[in-house]
Amino acid sequence: VPSKSKIVWEKFSHQSKFQQKLYHYGTFPQGFSWGVSSSAYQIEGGWNADGKGPSVWDTFAQKPGSIPGNANGDVASCDSYHKVEEDVAMLKQLKVTHYRFSISWPRVLPDGTTKHINEAGLKYYHRLVDALLAANIQPHITLYHWDLPQALQDIGGWENETIIIKFRDYTDLIFDRLGPKVKYWITINEPYNIANVGHGYGAAAPGISFRPGTLPYIVGHHLLKAHAEAWHLYNDKYRATQKGIISITINSDWSEPRNPYKQEDIDAARRVVQFYIGWFAHPVFNGDYSNMMKTIIRERSLAAGLPKSRLPEFTPEEIKRIKGTYDYFGFNHYTTVLAFPVESAGTIADRTWLDSGSSWLKVSPFGFRRILNFIKEEYGNPPIIITENGISERGPIDLNDIHRSHYYEKYINQVLKAYLLDNVDIRGYTAWSLMDNLEWATGFSERFGLFYVNHSDPNLSRVARSSVGHYSAIIQCNGFPD
Ligand code: NOJ
Repeated sequence: VPSKSKIVWEKFSHQSKFQQKLYHYGTFPQGFSWGVSSSAYQIEGGWNADGKGPSVWDTFAQKPGSIPGNANGDVASCDSYHKVEEDVAMLKQLKVTHYRFSISWPRVLPDGTTKHINEAGLKYYHRLVDALLAANIQPHITLYHWDLPQALQDIGGWENETIIIKFRDYTDLIFDRLGPKVKYWITINEPYNIANVGHGYGAAAPGISFRPGTLPYIVGHHLLKAHAEAWHLYNDKYRATQKGIISITINSDWSEPRNPYKQEDIDAARRVVQFYIGWFAHPVFNGDYSNMMKTIIRERSLAAGLPKSRLPEFTPEEIKRIKGTYDYFGFNHYTTVLAFPVESAGTIADRTWLDSGSSWLKVSPFGFRRILNFIKEEYGNPPIIITENGISERGPIDLNDIHRSHYYEKYINQVLKAYLLDNVDIRGYTAWSLMDNLEWATGFSERFGLFYVNHSDPNLSRVARSSVGHYSAIIQCNGFPD
């Protein structure tokens, strides 16, 4: 098997280094995976269908006033629970090789425990997986994309350490039932957001904000341990027969110094990255939180008069258990921030970067290549699967979404550069999202879909935006051939 650098060399032997840098032509390696993603609560609907239990997101969104327009996931605008064929038809049109979706824990285990298994819920995922395989599309399953069974939240949710075993038992059931057909797994999606947004600012379910400096670290600690248990379970019990790969998906913006000539800004940018991607990646790749994170949180905790750090500690056994619980680096990325020091670090966006439909998302493709290089350097050149990347819009519907085509073109091109020119080991790319869906606390006002979903049509018909053709062309060319 030729090494990757050899393949690259052969493919580009007709181009000088100068041309490679200047232009963005080139293709990804054979076997590169091209996907698109979604998540259960954002698309499934059927919130209480066929014995499904409520999740924390049902509770959060059903409370009037939580989400603009009182939007919720009861039908989730897409009603995917009742539309397997329609979903697969869109995937075929895109010509993706992989579809990333998540399993709703309370759909298969209504009270979160294996005491009662909801076979009807499992059947839905079997139907979906079977339809994907029949279409030659590989399922890439996220086991936890934020919709915790409400029954588990009632006993403390991610704050209660017993969640670790409950998560392991749930994943055991899914590996056992669906594992024979599935080769790609993600344990937990974006632990950073679960910890910070759900349990810090309270802007996502379960909507807790009264211990913003403490609770996110406890939740993050349990998320890491739960991930590690699921990874070991798969590794020990299922890998030999099922031959799949499993990891966690970590999200992070890139953080650039606001002034690259100012040491304080450079330091602030490093702190942002270590507290963002590093919070979860450092333990998964090295076993423990980074020294920077440990030192800063400890100093602040003591300064606030606390007896010890607010960041929990792992025991030496736990460090051993968490270290290396990855088969690839699952990575979600959307945007870049400029960092500068205020207290610890503040961030802003550059005013010249194009806007999106989401306040936090500015078009800044260069940061993608930089953070991919950061992952390579910081975590020992792991294989990377990009599990999300995309752009939203708001306001009037325009099916000619050139801003989205532009975004994908520019961002994927930075991925190509990271692969070809910097030798970052990137194995796959996944766009967010297949179709417009419930964008969490901002409801249906921010639309990330390649496909538009027509809410005023009782059939909730899906219509391809022009970016579908664009993304599909990139897929079929496997990049940007000369
Ligand atoms: C992150 C999340 O995983 C996904 O659910 C969300 O819709 C997108 N990013 C866009 O915000």
